Amino acid sequence: MKNIVILISGEGSNMAAIVRAAEQGRWAERFGARVAAVLSNRPEAAGLAFARERGIATAAISHKDFATREAFDAALAAAIEPHAPALVVLAGFMRILTPGFVERYAGRLINIHPSLLPAFPGLNTHQRAIEAGCRVAGATVHQVTVELDHGPILDQAVVPVLADDTPATLADRVLTQEHRLYPRAIEGWLRRG
Ligand code: GRF
Repeated sequence: MKNIVILISGEGSNMAAIVRAAEQGRWAERFGARVAAVLSNRPEAAGLAFARERGIATAAISHKDFATREAFDAALAAAIEPHAPALVVLAGFMRILTPGFVERYAGRLINIHPSLLPAFPGLNTHQRAIEAGCRVAGATVHQVTVELDHGPILDQAVVPVLADDTPATLADRVLTQEHRLYPRAIEGWLRRG
């Protein structure tokens, strides 16, 4: 079985979309893949309850319990390893990972970023797109490398930027597309074996 481990920090709406796609898309039968665990750096992350309700293993490793990034990442990896992941999926995971962690999972570590990379890496992507006068915006699923938000792109989704958009209305439109994009990108990754 190819185990997928998903890392979240909050709502976990992308994680939920992936869990639902795995069920509805019969990933176990079609690809021999399943969502094996959902982990969070925040014990209060709402997504943990969603995963628990579906019988998916969960764990919370609070970054506040560790003095260094390296120590936190080592504890995170220790929580991931029992699931022997074929794929580690960052879904609204709001931590910058150390090079050691990224190298450990290189080639099987992906992220979703709410912009059309390489445009707007980093934070506040919707506000920046509106301020730049962009006519389109969107989201990108990419391989995670040591350079933040810059790895090889797996797939993207585009949405229009409307004249009266605020960062919130644009974020909402992008998030809706993320919930289609991420499962599609993972299915593509699984299909390519
Ligand atoms: C989304 O904007 C996503 O692009 C970013 O985190 C935000 C929240 O994601 N990675 P989720 O609802 O926690 O999946």
